Amino acid sequence: MIGIGSDHGGYQLKQEIIKYLDNNQIQYKDYGCYDESSHDYPDYAKKVCNAVVNKECQKGILICGTGIGISIAANKVKGIRAALCHDCFSAKATREHNDANVLALGGRIVGPELALMIVDNFLNTDFSGDERHIKRINKIEID
Ligand code: RB5
Repeated sequence: MIGIGSDHGGYQLKQEIIKYLDNNQIQYKDYGCYDESSHDYPDYAKKVCNAVVNKECQKGILICGTGIGISIAANKVKGIRAALCHDCFSAKATREHNDANVLALGGRIVGPELALMIVDNFLNTDFSGDERHIKRINKIEID
């Protein structure tokens, strides 16, 4: 199950990603927002990240205008490693090296076609499992 959420700045791109998930029979839960009126991105970061931490969802996708605010908010949640990616290499590398469990995107930064390729790389790349990466990930965690 993929958790997806956005503020108004990411709403349109969220709808495009939802179409991609539907077309690829990928199960998801849409945590909002559900319209283009003004919404606060930390609210949606918390909803999706809590679902990931509680294991209701295996991964999350968060979108705001730039992807910056929502990724900052996501990374405040213990256990979340959110990666703001606007290219495919980063999306693949953050899965392999950081075992990122949340992808953040900027709806005002990337067009839908690139965004869907980024999502595809993020969802279809496994963590390498290398000891050196595990050691570094463990060093990220705070109390
Ligand atoms: C909303 O206008 C905008 O500030 C938000 O979507 C995001 O870009 C914040 O980082």
